[in-house]
Amino acid sequence: MARTLSMPQARGEIARDIQTAAEPTLVAQAAEFAEAVLDGLARKQRSIPSRFLYDEAGSALFEEITKLDEYYPTRTEIVLLRAFGREIAARVGPVETLVEFGSGSSRKTRLLIEALDGLKTYVPIDVSETFLAEAAEGLEADFAHLSVRPVVGDFTKTRDLNGTDAHRPLGFFSGSTIGNLTHDEAEGFLRNAAQLLGEGSTFLIGVDLQKDLDILLPAYDDARGVTASFSLNLLTRVNRELDGDFNTERFAHRALYNAEAGRIEIYLESLLDQTVHVCGQRFGFAKGERIHTENSHKYTIEGFQNLARRGGWEPMQVWTDDADLFCLHLLRRA
Ligand code: TRP
Repeated sequence: MARTLSMPQARGEIARDIQTAAEPTLVAQAAEFAEAVLDGLARKQRSIPSRFLYDEAGSALFEEITKLDEYYPTRTEIVLLRAFGREIAARVGPVETLVEFGSGSSRKTRLLIEALDGLKTYVPIDVSETFLAEAAEGLEADFAHLSVRPVVGDFTKTRDLNGTDAHRPLGFFSGSTIGNLTHDEAEGFLRNAAQLLGEGSTFLIGVDLQKDLDILLPAYDDARGVTASFSLNLLTRVNRELDGDFNTERFAHRALYNAEAGRIEIYLESLLDQTVHVCGQRFGFAKGERIHTENSHKYTIEGFQNLARRGGWEPMQVWTDDADLFCLHLLRRA
């Protein structure tokens, strides 16, 4: 089931003080959203960056997605962490600092923390200060020996851990969120993470595998329409925050597989010819015209290992489930 490449073990050192970076002001955030939407809607292939899917309603709907029968990634990753947590910890070796990129479900983080004996510091990096505060509170209550040192910010851009003296930490990037980046972006992210985590670090990354479309497509277009609601909530957000007048009944959620690129592509498709306004600007949509909102790349084991090497990491070991749905890659800094 698991493949092994033998590599030296990583050792951990003590992490010290940390301060959080300032979160952009609400005005700056609103301006950034407006600019991204107006710019994205003016393009030939219309698009809105996927990070805007996760407002409060969107985050709650995504949480629902992770519990759907059709959505196998979350529960499979949890199965893998339960089954192989100890094995992963043994491969990583002594480690005192865990650095998590993005807001993984805290269920997954807990499983990893439980498996890592001797862990002293947990550094979650996330854009949401609220999420970080909740995570810190919950984990410090349950793991008495653990110090939580959150870093507020976009994990693709984080250049330093704000003073946390993390020697040979373990990085964790779950949920196949790396698949939401293009290959070039993922390579850049991996390079940045290698720089950030430093020499001797290791990195555990959850990655969705390529598979039959009869399993893949329903995971992004479920029978109850939760994923469609999540997708369409972006238009509701534009209406509310950017004075938009999208009629969500005149757009449909579409999840298509681009075989050449090896990825699911998510769109909002106009169901008729119509005109929409955002921030006082007018946008005409033809029937069938789409707004692209997300990519979710699916990797073979070898494909991801090659990407990891290009990003400055050496594959150590891979764990997969019996149905080959999902995998956990353990990497060490090259
Ligand atoms: N990281 C998730 C994934 O690629 C994000 C996701 C799941 C998603 N379902 C979605 C994004 C539907 C947009 C629409 O699996």
